[in-house]
Amino acid sequence: MTQDELKQKVAEAALHYVKDVAIVGVGTGSTVRHFIDYLADSKQNFEGAVSSSEMTTAHLKKVGIPVLDLNAVGTLDVYIDGADEISPHKHMIKGGGGALTREKIIAAASKKFICIVDESKCVDVLGAFALPVEVIPMARSYVAREMVKLGGQPVWRENFITDNHNVILDVHNLNILDPIKLEQIINNITGVVSNGLFAMRGADVVLIGKGTEVITR
Ligand code: 5RP
Repeated sequence: MTQDELKQKVAEAALHYVKDVAIVGVGTGSTVRHFIDYLADSKQNFEGAVSSSEMTTAHLKKVGIPVLDLNAVGTLDVYIDGADEISPHKHMIKGGGGALTREKIIAAASKKFICIVDESKCVDVLGAFALPVEVIPMARSYVAREMVKLGGQPVWRENFITDNHNVILDVHNLNILDPIKLEQIINNITGVVSNGLFAMRGADVVLIGKGTEVITR
């Protein structure tokens, strides 16, 4: 199976977790895009979705799924999203698509985070994928220097502005042996909006497309 076929397979499997759910939290990326298509085709009876990005919002609307405001709906039962890397502890690096802050907000506001990935995303130790950090534009150089102090090599994602009108630093070569601690340290740097480590609030269930199967972890 191709990587995209594996993404489709896990996206379809995720439908099981949204049965009888009135409002679904929906992440961002190519795997989630498949999930949205399956959700629309399923004709399940649900009220709508809370979206993690403008891109996801556009796709949800295109397939006829109502998009709801998180502030109006309170705690969500389920959040479905992909990841750039996931560890055996269900800690993740996310933000390859730049939607990390809204993704983190919805994950925090959800009872259950179902992560859907193809097997290429599974790693023993996080960090081969450069860690995205969303930064207030005027703090870009300052935060970059702080990331160097942490041992990373920050690269400004040029020509990219987040949905929140901020910039992204992709930080290479970080030694992520304690993801929870590093997530907190980076959060505490002035000018950082959020970082792509999802360790304090990791996934609850991981669906992995591997070979011809979907493995649940
Ligand atoms: C976007 C994300 C995505 O979940 C992550 O990049 C995975 O994307 P894809 O499903 O396209 O592989 O964090 O900000």
